[in-house]
Amino acid sequence: QLDTRFFGIGNHLVFLSTVDSTNVLAMQLAQDGSEEGVVVLTDSQTAGKGRLGRHWVDQPGHSVISSTILRPFFPPYHLIMFASLAVVDAIADTCGVAATIKWPNDVLVGDRKVAGILIETSRDRSGRGFAIVGIGVNVNGDFTEAIPSQAVPGLTQAATTLQSACGHRVSREFFITRLLQHMESSYLLLQQEAQDPLAQAYGSSSRLIRERWRNQLSTLGRTIQVRQGDSMLSGIAEDVDEHGELLLRCHSGDRVSITWGDIGYPTQ
Ligand code: BTN
Repeated sequence: QLDTRFFGIGNHLVFLSTVDSTNVLAMQLAQDGSEEGVVVLTDSQTAGKGRLGRHWVDQPGHSVISSTILRPFFPPYHLIMFASLAVVDAIADTCGVAATIKWPNDVLVGDRKVAGILIETSRDRSGRGFAIVGIGVNVNGDFTEAIPSQAVPGLTQAATTLQSACGHRVSREFFITRLLQHMESSYLLLQQEAQDPLAQAYGSSSRLIRERWRNQLSTLGRTIQVRQGDSMLSGIAEDVDEHGELLLRCHSGDRVSITWGDIGYPTQ
């Protein structure tokens, strides 16, 4: 039973048994003026989109595939943080498993990826900005081998499912319910803070969400590889800054700030 206030409630829920990409459909709906809180769900995508132009392939009927329209007043890096935390929290609620986040927003169990997030921003016909928060979670089935379409060329990233991680099937309906509840409650806090100058100055909700996100990052303290297009950097992930950028200590001793790219853990 969905007990969110407006995420996915009533005509805010769009379900199609199959679609090219829920992010593409949500983007069209938002461009045509759909309000925030509209959630597009499907059983399977024929052209799922991953980060940095990659494809995202699912096992039909086994995944949670959702795209939520938001019209945030806060910066995009807070979207990355609250969405990945909501996935981690929904996994804890439904499987009792402690998932972690690989910077910036891949969700892992152990060193295997169970969920990916794609956030896209644009403007509608009247010039209002919006964001689409697309979340794909490998829920049931058995993906013990790397899924080629969820891997990054040149980096090792094995994938798994929640079922493999916790040893039993997980209800996708229950997962979506918990996911939308966690997303909505953090979103409302961030939105409230962004609209209230006093709360904004104090920044307690965003600080709390940033700290929780930072604490869930499995990336910090590790030797990592960062792939940015054709170039590869490696070093130790020392920390993240207040905007969520990753601070990498390169083997040369230089410290660089990473704003985008894919991370690999060479030891896995
Ligand atoms: C990644 O890890 O590269 C991000 C994957 C994001 C996949 C989700 S599934 C729902 C939404 N619709 C899409 O086409 N992509 C996102």
